[in-house]
Amino acid sequence: MKKKAVSMIVAAALLTTAVGCSGSGNAPAGGANTNASGGAAKPDAAAKNPTIGVAIYKFDDTFMTGVRNAISQAAEGKAKVDIVDSQNSQPAQNDKVDLFITKKVNALAINPVDRTAAGVIIDKAKNANIPVVFMNREPLADDMKKWDKVYYVGAKAEQSGTMEGQLIVDYFKSNPAADKNKDGVLQYVMLKGEPGHQDAELRTKFAIKAVEDAGIKVEKLAEDTAMWDRVKGQEKMAAFLASHGDKIEAVFANNDDMALGAIEALKAKGYFKDNKFIPVVGVDATAPALKALEEGTLLGTVLNDAKNQGKAAFSIANVLAQGQTPTKENTGYDITDGKYVWISYKKITKANMNDAK
Ligand code: GAL
Repeated sequence: MKKKAVSMIVAAALLTTAVGCSGSGNAPAGGANTNASGGAAKPDAAAKNPTIGVAIYKFDDTFMTGVRNAISQAAEGKAKVDIVDSQNSQPAQNDKVDLFITKKVNALAINPVDRTAAGVIIDKAKNANIPVVFMNREPLADDMKKWDKVYYVGAKAEQSGTMEGQLIVDYFKSNPAADKNKDGVLQYVMLKGEPGHQDAELRTKFAIKAVEDAGIKVEKLAEDTAMWDRVKGQEKMAAFLASHGDKIEAVFANNDDMALGAIEALKAKGYFKDNKFIPVVGVDATAPALKALEEGTLLGTVLNDAKNQGKAAFSIANVLAQGQTPTKENTGYDITDGKYVWISYKKITKANMNDAK
């Protein structure tokens, strides 16, 4: 009896703390799980060592490999993360999600292959009452509203596009010779990521908007998708050079891998030696891109913060796995509209590249 009385007092104290913190998810599980009879509930089995099922759209993607590694690191000593490769196939990913549900994982962290397929995954998760955090490929707003245990961790695509455009603006304003044919118009080519991906569509749009907003006229010589891929970036750039040659005054790529591919194609045409330069910009600030910045081939990039995106996705999933509601206090990240964690981008050039390391 005495023991029960003490545990009731403890439970009451914990409950007061939880309320006092205005719903802070930092409240110990005992407080949040206090049962109807007023006694302290046993801590949830999931709270001790939850399992989180993580599906990545494909392992063979430089940036997502960074996110994947960040998730594993963040989980050390806190939770078991089961990370699987969806091999760029949405049906394959759906099967993996079914398997996670059969295994009764405590939360899901999903990087969809096709972001419009998130609705199906949400239905599955909701049926099984397993919370889900999406990453990097933003589900449609209507799908996000389907359930309150659905979150998204990502970055504002338009911000990265604007920053990429500004890198080119800065270069053009300080190097008048960059307008090679002196027509007062910036002739450019664009290497796009995967069509339909918010980062591909919005980076393409906002990069050019930033240039125009700075008062520079533009002419698009060519645009094609290279699917975030370095080899495809090289092939598409070689094709652009074959049709437009030295008319091209700037190269925009939606990510660093494609920018690095473009640089290879440009090198094959004699660029980056004997004072033959062309500004190439990308997004991600991957390790090979930083090396290219250092070498002076890549003009600039935008830090897509894989570390914080992975850490935030894990934090949110881990809190949900413990039956709690994610808050700034228990995840360390601001949550917008009750569902979104936005990680900021940052402009990177040779001058501040240490910020991206
Ligand atoms: C983007 C990133 C690309 C690629 C893509 C995959 O955010 O910049 O490099 O990883 O995500 O969805």
